[in-house]
Amino acid sequence: ESIDLKEIHDVLIDIAAEAGKVITSSLPTINSTDSKKNSSDLVTEYDKAVESMVSQRLKAKYPDYDFHGEETYSPDHPLTDKPTFIVDPIDGTTNFVHGFPSSCISLGFAINRKPVVGVVYNAFTSTLYSAIKGQGAFLNHTTPLPLKQGDKLEALDGLDKALIALEWGSERSGPNWETKLQTFASLGKTRENGGAMVHSIRSLGSAALNICAVASGVLDLYWEGGCWAWDVCAGWIILEEAGGIMVGGNKGDWDPAIDGRAYTAVRPSPGGKGQKELVEELWRHVHG
Ligand code: IPD
Repeated sequence: ESIDLKEIHDVLIDIAAEAGKVITSSLPTINSTDSKKNSSDLVTEYDKAVESMVSQRLKAKYPDYDFHGEETYSPDHPLTDKPTFIVDPIDGTTNFVHGFPSSCISLGFAINRKPVVGVVYNAFTSTLYSAIKGQGAFLNHTTPLPLKQGDKLEALDGLDKALIALEWGSERSGPNWETKLQTFASLGKTRENGGAMVHSIRSLGSAALNICAVASGVLDLYWEGGCWAWDVCAGWIILEEAGGIMVGGNKGDWDPAIDGRAYTAVRPSPGGKGQKELVEELWRHVHG
């Protein structure tokens, strides 16, 4: 059976618009917010309501496909090779709760665990990123990604000229925290010759928006050690279609699983340093 990816893409964009209305008319408050595994892992009634709307719409239209959502995830139902919608109703929940305008709905569709359609929509800034496998990636339907300066994308020659995203995540103790801290410290430091290791470091607070910023070319690389499939699925295909690459967060992991946790996203850089060389340069900072 052949799957109409364009139809799925259009349905996901329609759902993103509906979700955007709910999200922008909501009134989350810092003091009425619940947490999941610890007090920095936030969830609101809106995350749950949006996921329920999305899953109802998708299950009604595509009853044979699986649905995998952040708020209803259970380890008893791991991802399979089946066509699967992989959804984060609100990625960047902490930003959402604080009114910091950097959160989005992330709607991905994967076959054989490979992302083939992605829609990421930040309703606060009316920014829509979307892609279908083999058909390019776009900002607000018509602007191709990556974005260009004039008619070209500047080549990236090394990490010392890069703007990089790293995230704090919600895991703030144990080995995961140590690795994060090491990566921030190593990349943030000035070299012995006085030069900066990177131009600077950003944390947008949403994995999907970080990946889309890399696909756009406005961030050069993004590294995170604690993601979930719903954080990366939609952004991944948008990045790939823009000419970027998604690899693992740890040394040697060139072909990470969609539920693999640690990732490095690299922007396209025609004529610049090879993307894999940039990754290897970054990995050296992850484990010291
Ligand atoms: C989180 C955000 C955050 C990232 C975490 C994610 P959520 O998603 O994307 O930036 O650091 O790894 O889990 O909880 O806001 O949907």
